[in-house]
Amino acid sequence: MRLDIVLVAGLALLVSASAASTPCSYVISANDTLFDVGKRYNLTLAEVTAANPQLSDVNILQLGTVIALPCGNATATSGESVLDLLAHRADMTTLFRAVVAAGFADTLADESLVATVFAPNNTAFENLLAKVLTNQTAEELLADKAALAELLSYHVVPEEALEAAQLTNGRNLTTLLEEEFVEVFKPANTTRLATSSGQKVRVVATDLEAGKAVVHITKGVLLPASFGVELPSPEAGCIHVVKEGDILFDLAAQYDTTVDSLLDLNPQLQANPTLLPLGTELILYPECEL
Ligand SMILES: *[C@@H]1O[C@H](CO)[C@@H](O)[C@H](O)[C@H]1NC(C)=O
Ligand SMILES: *[C@@H]1O[C@H](CO)[C@@H](O)[C@H](O)[C@H]1NC(C)=O
Ligand SMILES: *[C@@H]1O[C@H](CO)[C@@H](O)[C@H](O)[C@H]1NC(C)=O
Ligand SMILES: *[C@@H]1O[C@H](CO)[C@@H](O)[C@H](O)[C@H]1NC(C)=O
Ligand SMILES: *[C@@H]1O[C@H](CO)[C@@H](O)[C@H](O)[C@H]1NC(C)=O
Ligand SMILES: *[C@@H]1O[C@H](CO)[C@@H](O)[C@H](O)[C@H]1NC(C)=O
Ligand SMILES: *[C@@H]1O[C@H](CO)[C@@H](O)[C@H](O)[C@H]1NC(C)=O
Repeated sequence: MRLDIVLVAGLALLVSASAASTPCSYVISANDTLFDVGKRYNLTLAEVTAANPQLSDVNILQLGTVIALPCGNATATSGESVLDLLAHRADMTTLFRAVVAAGFADTLADESLVATVFAPNNTAFENLLAKVLTNQTAEELLADKAALAELLSYHVVPEEALEAAQLTNGRNLTTLLEEEFVEVFKPANTTRLATSSGQKVRVVATDLEAGKAVVHITKGVLLPASFGVELPSPEAGCIHVVKEGDILFDLAAQYDTTVDSLLDLNPQLQANPTLLPLGTELILYPECEL
């Protein structure tokens, strides 16, 4: 208990140290009041309270609770640590809460941590809950420490800060879940991560510096096979199964999209776009990707 308090207090210092700019996510440390936290970032108590309608009593703050601060859609591209970077991005608030809830915060607040971290953005978690963990709410997921720890472990490659250029096609990455591979897959201009559960998750931004670690943003949450969830079959309206005589130009017109978008979503076609293998399932729209 005593150790927890010390760690959480140390962590809050690390998170706030770099920040002239207001973070989007903040961990309550010992003796914090909302007024003091606001003052540190030149926010009024009313502004801090308004950003946290979930707090039933603003005078009783639980140590280690994550609160939101109005950060003006911050999109930091570097941070002093992984946690510091995540704190300063408005699109990473769910991941930040997951990191704290899983007990990974002090590891990721370490400025000397050498690692590669894949960071799913808020939309990725929304999609996970809407399409895969359909019987869970975000609050239920965030309350499941064991599940979060397993999920997040699959997003961390320890001891190596791999930049985009080192994520070469066919490279197998060893994450903290050593038994579960992540394979880099680079068709044409996209970078994807093939997971042991069968996803091909797109990497949407690379090389965010976070102390000695590097962070890459992913469009989806990586699911290890051991997580034991079944990937949903593509929704109606998301897939076209190639039949005799299909050509991309006509399919683009038929589905009200473009040839470029189809090639981007189905990078396996880029090697030879004029030959569509019969029976191939083509993904039609960006929102169809998990
Ligand atoms: C919190 O307040 C108590 C009592 O005033 C003090 O002993 C303790 O050092 C404070 N903790 C921190 C982290 O400031
Ligand atoms: C603090 O906020 C007030 C009102 O929003 C603004 O006028 C003032 O310049 C700010 N001060 C700093 C140091 O940012
Ligand atoms: C943040 O972005 C959203 C959506 O793009 C926008 O509605 C909102 O006004 C922005 N907030 C700030 C403070 O810039
Ligand atoms: C997450 O990334 C996807 C793909 O780039 C993007 O469409 C989506 O808007 C992002 N979500 C947020 C909250 O920024
Ligand atoms: C959700 O459903 C799965 C089976 O489909 C079950 O194993 C799991 O316990 C359920 N979770 C919750 C929170 O109800
Ligand atoms: C990566 O690991 C998977 C699963 O063990 C294996 O099927 C695949 O061939 C490996 N790829 C490479 C390039 O070693
Ligand atoms: C891939 O990237 C190159 C260089 O940025 C560009 O010229 C080419 O059109 C891209 N190809 C596709 C299929 O997007």
